[in-house]
Amino acid sequence: MARRKYIAGNWKMHKTVGEAVALAKELVESLAGCPHKLMIAPPFTALSAVASVVKGTPILLGAQNMASVEQGAHTGEVSVLMLKDIGVRSVILGHSERRIIYGEKDGLINEKVKLALKHGLEVVLCVGETLEEREKGKAEEVVTTQVTQCLQGVGEGDLPMITIAYEPVWAIGTGKNATPQDADAIHKVIRKVLDTLYRPGTGETVTIQYGGSVKPENARELLTMPNIDGALVGGASLKKETFVPIAWFDR
Ligand code: 13P
Repeated sequence: MARRKYIAGNWKMHKTVGEAVALAKELVESLAGCPHKLMIAPPFTALSAVASVVKGTPILLGAQNMASVEQGAHTGEVSVLMLKDIGVRSVILGHSERRIIYGEKDGLINEKVKLALKHGLEVVLCVGETLEEREKGKAEEVVTTQVTQCLQGVGEGDLPMITIAYEPVWAIGTGKNATPQDADAIHKVIRKVLDTLYRPGTGETVTIQYGGSVKPENARELLTMPNIDGALVGGASLKKETFVPIAWFDR
């Protein structure tokens, strides 16, 4: 079965509640009838308000992170239970900004993935190499390790709840996207890894997004590659004028 295209917006640390609600309303209106799967991930402080805007629409509500445990003495963390309570359906885990700035390792990300799945949240699992790793010829190895370790103990039955986002670190926020061919090649590697971790053929069933300087100008060429099933959009997801044309890339 053909994989459905999946376009998601990661708003990162941007937007007050008022700004987030305004953008969400514009998106609900402009994306009505869009055939692709859609998700937006506002900052924690705006989740509740945006939940009311997207409720009953095809736009899924996502969070950008969550704690690795359900509750307790974890100052500054947000629990899966709290996210579920306000209508969050999906969570971005293992983003390179979490890995690099906040020191998250594959083991911790794996705990988060399993906890999200236990509570029925969809996961967007981010992987990707740094520029240094790419220049040393290690991109495939790095991504293979990340996928393998972050999915440890995740059963095949849970894979429909998981989207993998390949986000090469050097392409994030730099305006320099991976070429469609380079991105497609890594997506293919990820499918092969899934074939070895699970049953042969599993890789073909999993949705793999590309992220890193996706813009209206490059969305179509990226999103029509055979192994690229969607986009995880940062900067261009912050405005209707740039996110809507990406979501409608094939209109
Ligand atoms: P940019 O689209 O701003 O490069 O960010 C990509 C990203 O990190 C999405 O998670």
